[in-house]
Amino acid sequence: MKSKMRPKVYRRVSKGGICTPSKPLGMSVTAVPPFKGSSRELIVEVARALEPYFPDITNNWREKLVNEFGFDGRTLAALERLTLAAGCSYFCHDDFPGFQENLQYFSTRLAKLQVDTRAVARSLELYQLSCDPYVSGLFPEREAEAKAALEMLSSVSFVIISGAYFDAKTLESQALLSTLDAELSAGDLGVLLQRVLEITTRTFQASMGVLLLRESDSESLKVEASAGMRLELPEDFRIAPGWGFTGRIAQTGEAGMILDTSPETDGLTPLLRPHAKSLWGVPLKANGETIGVLVIGFQKPYEWLPTERELMRAIGDRTALAIERARMTDALREREQKIADLSAHLLRVQEEERKRISRELHDETGQALMVIRLYLGMMESGAMPRNVRGKIRETVEVVDRTIEGIRRIIGKLSPLVLQELGLVAAIRKEAKHLTKTTGVKTRVLIAEDVGRLTPGAEQAIYRVVQEALHNVAKHAQAHNATVQVAREDDLVRVIVEDDGIGIQGRSNSRGQSFGLTGIKERIAMLGGASRVVSGKGKGTRVEISVPAGEPSEPAARPAARAAAQAVARPN
Ligand SMILES: Nc1ncnc2c1ncn2[C@@H]1O[C@H](COP(=O)(O)OP(=O)(O)O)[C@@H](O)[C@H]1O
Ligand SMILES: [Mg+2]
Repeated sequence: MKSKMRPKVYRRVSKGGICTPSKPLGMSVTAVPPFKGSSRELIVEVARALEPYFPDITNNWREKLVNEFGFDGRTLAALERLTLAAGCSYFCHDDFPGFQENLQYFSTRLAKLQVDTRAVARSLELYQLSCDPYVSGLFPEREAEAKAALEMLSSVSFVIISGAYFDAKTLESQALLSTLDAELSAGDLGVLLQRVLEITTRTFQASMGVLLLRESDSESLKVEASAGMRLELPEDFRIAPGWGFTGRIAQTGEAGMILDTSPETDGLTPLLRPHAKSLWGVPLKANGETIGVLVIGFQKPYEWLPTERELMRAIGDRTALAIERARMTDALREREQKIADLSAHLLRVQEEERKRISRELHDETGQALMVIRLYLGMMESGAMPRNVRGKIRETVEVVDRTIEGIRRIIGKLSPLVLQELGLVAAIRKEAKHLTKTTGVKTRVLIAEDVGRLTPGAEQAIYRVVQEALHNVAKHAQAHNATVQVAREDDLVRVIVEDDGIGIQGRSNSRGQSFGLTGIKERIAMLGGASRVVSGKGKGTRVEISVPAGEPSEPAARPAARAAAQAVARPN
């Protein structure tokens, strides 16, 4: 397996960290304590003198390290790049900044290999110890001075190494924080997926990424988001479990990596080949179940290092949780919307039904009663015994009262006064009715500029006032009530207020009370706002504001008016 190529990665690191090339993370090269001029010269001199012995020194050092830590070849190779032997080629060209970059790169790599900084410090110390006998032999006159220069080199190196470790850790936490941020701020699932993918590709400097999710009703994966490429897939393109690279990750629930996409013939990989030579993929697991796969790709055969794999897995886990949460939120929102639609529908149906019943009451019952009354009137004027005439009079009175009752019911069911004379008159009528039936003094304050509104708005406002005044009668024990209607630009504001006992706790409004809820629903349906303000003993205020909409012409409905008058004035 080939590992990441040095020149490529050098460029990345020298730009300041892997995550955001344009914005250096934490410590940068210039922030490192410089090698002092005189010490530099001595370091160069010592390095040159030691050069023929480096193979021996390095072997000796390797042996010690392996004994002490049991490091593998990859780790030893990276550690070797931090030593004087590796530095020599830079020092001899007076390229100290080059050595600093080299230190940064290989420290980052060691951090990814999860090598403890203490082990790195020990490695530097062991190297120094391996050099010491040679230094003593080569610089008998200036032994202390030469050793001090090498020690300084070690210390400065370690500062750079620690900085790189810090940067690597910062990068990890930044990636996770970014995922968290995406999770918290994403409006919906689609946005979330896209953000996670962008964060992941950016974090690992991948050239492309794809995110696949398992469909709810099948085991197959569907590509839900992609980054860094245009992926044109047929609408019905699905990855079955076990099919190709992504299918395998979905099936096993294990992270996976391929360093060469060319031999792959199954699944998504052949389609990703033009964009990626190597692929890294992790399962998205929520509650132990794989709900998707996150894949990123590189144009070179990059192998992931342990921390990179861990970080990607962590991003995968977090993403899976975020997806679950977003799905739940989406489902909840959908349900809320459905409930809102349903209640809107019910309110509409209710209004229609009320209209239908009032029409039937008027056309059938009302007309029949009118006919009965007519006949009774005719009989009353004919010759007949007194007692019969008396009975007929009584019957006429009963019929009149019934007609009056029906008229009231019709009025409540489908207020003709609203259709004919408009909102203002209808509200005044309701207020008058409250005063008449309960003795609550009711004031109606209506601004002159309210004008007529859309039938929908008028009807909603009327129903709100009707319900609020009904509540005053039923619950408030008030002396006074006020209804105010005002226009504020494109809004109509309505306030129904009383000086009664206020809403007493919540218990009695739970369950079967839907008056106030109905108000909220109606107003929300019109895109308006409503609130109820109430305090114990401080009365209750229902406030609503609705968009006025295009004012409509006063409803001229002669037929309806005639019918209403026929029932309303039987005499
Ligand atoms: N103006 C008011 N004064 C005092 N209490 C009220 C008033 N309006 C409503 N409430 C209280 O709020 C509850 C809920 O009102 P509402 O939703 O209209 O249901 P309902 O009138 O059918 O009880 C009422 O049961 C009552 O306890
Ligand atoms: Mg009520």
